[in-house]
Amino acid sequence: MPGQIPQDFIDDLRSRVDIVDVIKDYVPLKKQGQNYKGLCPFHSEKTPSFVVSPHKQIYHCFGCGKGGNVFTFLMDKGGFTFVDAVAHVAKLCGVAVPQEELTPEKAKQKSLREKYFHINKLAVVFFQERLDSRQGKAAGLYLAKRGLGKEIIAKFALGYAPNAWDELGRYLLSKEITEEEIITLGLATKGQSGKLIDRFRNRVIFPIFDDRNRVIGFGGRVLDDSQPKYLNSPETPLFNKGRQLYGLNLAKAAIRDEEKAILMEGYMDVIAAHQHGIGQAVGTLGTALTAEHGKLLMRYTYNVVLCFDADAAGQEASLRGMDILRQLGLRVAVMTIPDGKDPDEFLRRNGQEGFSQLVKQAPSLVEYKLAKQMEKYNKNTVAGKVQILQALIPDLYQVQSPVERHGFIELIAQRLSLSETVIYAEMRKFQTKTGPTRFSKHEHEETAPVPSGPSLNAAVKGQRFLLKLLLEKPEMLPEVEEAGGKELFTDQFYQEIYQIYYLLRRSGHNIKAEDLITHIEKEETRQKLTEIILDDEVPADWARIYKDCLLTLQIDWLKQKIAEKNALMIEYEKSGNVTKSLEILAELQKMIQKRQSLVSTLVKVGNSLE
Ligand code: GTP
Ligand code: MN
Repeated sequence: MPGQIPQDFIDDLRSRVDIVDVIKDYVPLKKQGQNYKGLCPFHSEKTPSFVVSPHKQIYHCFGCGKGGNVFTFLMDKGGFTFVDAVAHVAKLCGVAVPQEELTPEKAKQKSLREKYFHINKLAVVFFQERLDSRQGKAAGLYLAKRGLGKEIIAKFALGYAPNAWDELGRYLLSKEITEEEIITLGLATKGQSGKLIDRFRNRVIFPIFDDRNRVIGFGGRVLDDSQPKYLNSPETPLFNKGRQLYGLNLAKAAIRDEEKAILMEGYMDVIAAHQHGIGQAVGTLGTALTAEHGKLLMRYTYNVVLCFDADAAGQEASLRGMDILRQLGLRVAVMTIPDGKDPDEFLRRNGQEGFSQLVKQAPSLVEYKLAKQMEKYNKNTVAGKVQILQALIPDLYQVQSPVERHGFIELIAQRLSLSETVIYAEMRKFQTKTGPTRFSKHEHEETAPVPSGPSLNAAVKGQRFLLKLLLEKPEMLPEVEEAGGKELFTDQFYQEIYQIYYLLRRSGHNIKAEDLITHIEKEETRQKLTEIILDDEVPADWARIYKDCLLTLQIDWLKQKIAEKNALMIEYEKSGNVTKSLEILAELQKMIQKRQSLVSTLVKVGNSLE
């Protein structure tokens, strides 16, 4: 994960910074005992279950399970990349980030990318100059007609591509840019005569920036009704439409502040929004919404309002978009602009206030779908109710907050004149069909959500204790490895933590539990780790519990192994392979003996765990 920054530096930095200072900027924290507590910034809650440990330099939410160290926090909540998070912390600590040497291959790639960004930048300047020149007069009038002032034109770096064959091409060649580079960036193509032909001609130009303010591509609009209305850069080494959001460079601060992004379709819509003070607007550039878009947004917020055009295509896009975003865990609302207007027109007529009002009223995913379904089916017939409910259950099932879900269920019950119990019953049916538990069976009897960890069965409890112990007493690792090592951990997350920890330790890395977090990429595994780190300290009489625990896990593991071997033996017997089956029988007997001896030791040691 760390890329080019030396691991030692990262570990050192983590020990210098105080995580409480960093998190305090995002979440009000109160001291409670050794730790600090606050309302979790990752899910909505009324009573604090978000814990920050200055001692361990980690955070963990006992409500939603999120956890990590100062870097993961900045990445998850602050929208930083890992490298930026490190740079941010380094700055707080007043130290410089050392860079490891790039390989020549990497250095070359990097400088090539930088060159490409530079070329695009030159093109932006070219287009801007043309807009200001006599050539750009009609384009300037067009933008004015669309209500755009000088300031917003400058803010979005809008420009004009002249009505000529190769002005940009010649301009770039004069700046010592090669034909090949110009073509690679999609700024021109090669005509039959072998001459460059500019891609964008007689169009208003919308440069597309990435979230770090670098120009990755362009869109160009005709000044009249001719077709195609918009022309975009082709896919290039810098430009990939499904991964970019128009305006994000300008919107990201507002998105974070308002804790909400407004997703639109068009260039003009986004620009109009910004001009009218709706600074959280970003655009999908007319492409279908992708998970990549969602992930990009999640760096800044978990709340997204879809503001797509009111036409049928826009509505369809909304529905699909909701599903994609929801699956990522984003909270989605859908706003509808009245009278089939697009956001740009609406804003021009009703201004910021009218628009904000619509944002506020935007129904959430479930409400939106409920309304759609109620248009489709008759809620006054039993068959209609069934249809509507069936269509909504999968979405309800996906709502992660029990409070929110209960709210929706209340709403649906009311609108369809059904009892809430019926809806819960339908959800349970759906749940048994689809598998993993998402909501508790008794949820509708609870008055408030109880932030509690999952109830652990004895085996998992044992594994958790063992891991906790190993993290504090690494000297026990060889013995545990000998007793079965990762095989003892049937919980996949614990197993992963053990394995990473064991391998790092074995390679001579004197790693501490808190530093282990940086080595774990999977979010869920990391959450398990922060949970364990925050567990109660290992008790003074740990040795006895440890013995019990190790024995119990070994016995469980052997039991599993014995069952597997047994099945294998039967296979061989059936197929008449006597030699093989006898071989396995011998192994089996050894295992059974071993297991028996472990069981009797366990009995001698005394109380089993629990
Ligand atoms: P105007 O208000 O007419 O300037 O456009 P708009 O920004 O409102 O766009 P519209 O709602 O018509 O379409 C939404 C987005 O889809 C546009 O901003 C473009 O990104 C994209 N788009 C629209 N028409 C075309 C087209 O002809 N070609 C391409 N490649 N993209 C288009
Ligand atoms: Mn429009």
